[in-house]
Amino acid sequence: MKLSIETIKNRVSVRTYDKIKVPDSVVDDIKKYIGQIENPFQVPIDFRILDAKEHNLGSSVIIGENTYVAAKYRKVLNAEIAFGYSFERFILFATSLGLATVWLAGTIDRKAFENAMQLKEDEVMPAVSPIGYAAKKRSVRENLMRKGLKSDDRVLFEKLFFKGDFQNPLKESEANHWLIPLQMLRLSPSATNKQPWRVVVEEKRVHFYEEKTKGYAQEKTGDIQKVDLGIAICHFEIAAEELGLKGNIIQKDPGFTIPKNTEYIATYELED
Ligand SMILES: Cc1cc2nc3c(=O)[nH]c(=O)nc-3n(C[C@H](O)[C@H](O)[C@H](O)COP(=O)(O)O)c2cc1C
Repeated sequence: MKLSIETIKNRVSVRTYDKIKVPDSVVDDIKKYIGQIENPFQVPIDFRILDAKEHNLGSSVIIGENTYVAAKYRKVLNAEIAFGYSFERFILFATSLGLATVWLAGTIDRKAFENAMQLKEDEVMPAVSPIGYAAKKRSVRENLMRKGLKSDDRVLFEKLFFKGDFQNPLKESEANHWLIPLQMLRLSPSATNKQPWRVVVEEKRVHFYEEKTKGYAQEKTGDIQKVDLGIAICHFEIAAEELGLKGNIIQKDPGFTIPKNTEYIATYELED
């Protein structure tokens, strides 16, 4: 199944589940899907489906869940970006099946998850997500979290995106063929909704950057904002593909002068 713009628009974090187990046939569909996810960075991402009761898994912010999906990688170049890209493909596939999900990196019983994943010395498990069905009403805690994180809001388009270099903010009215891919990128989930993605567009290339927040790169999770960048690239690419654009993700730093605490991540390049 193709992931779509519609699915990107439908995705929302869900922390209140209705306790109903996901049927085995749906779990099998997920299993098949996560077994064949690829990423442009060629980093293997190892997914597992975990029963919450069997492994004693939980999160202080989640209620009513039975099943989790977790994934891990070996520490290699680009692993965090590849993880974000691949795990978001799983999240969107689950969304397209009518399942509820939420990225969880901080508010989990990390030890229990890492044990269940048989995490080795040189491996990192940045995040997990429950899969289930959304309860009719969000918990009070979930509502408070969404308000606190401003989860329904995103930073202004022209504060995230630039044309030619970092000096010129890009208006939606000037974005042309990049408009919808950038709008879909802007709907990405990100850790504490920090939205560390910054983008410089040219006629044929779109360059993705990470604007780093202090304290977000840690031993246990890796640089979680690089995971956010992988998610953003995934959204951008899905939208571009649906619009009929033909391009590839490459890494070739254009060498622009960049703001402080900002790092070049990757480029989407249109084919000739
Ligand atoms: C990498 C990553 C880690 C996250 N970690 C957590 C977490 O530990 N706990 C949590 O409740 N939400 C977590 N979130 C969810 C974000 O808070 C959420 O995506 C953001 O507030 C935007 O809301 P939305 O997903 O409903 O659009 C995480 C999201 C991402 C992408």
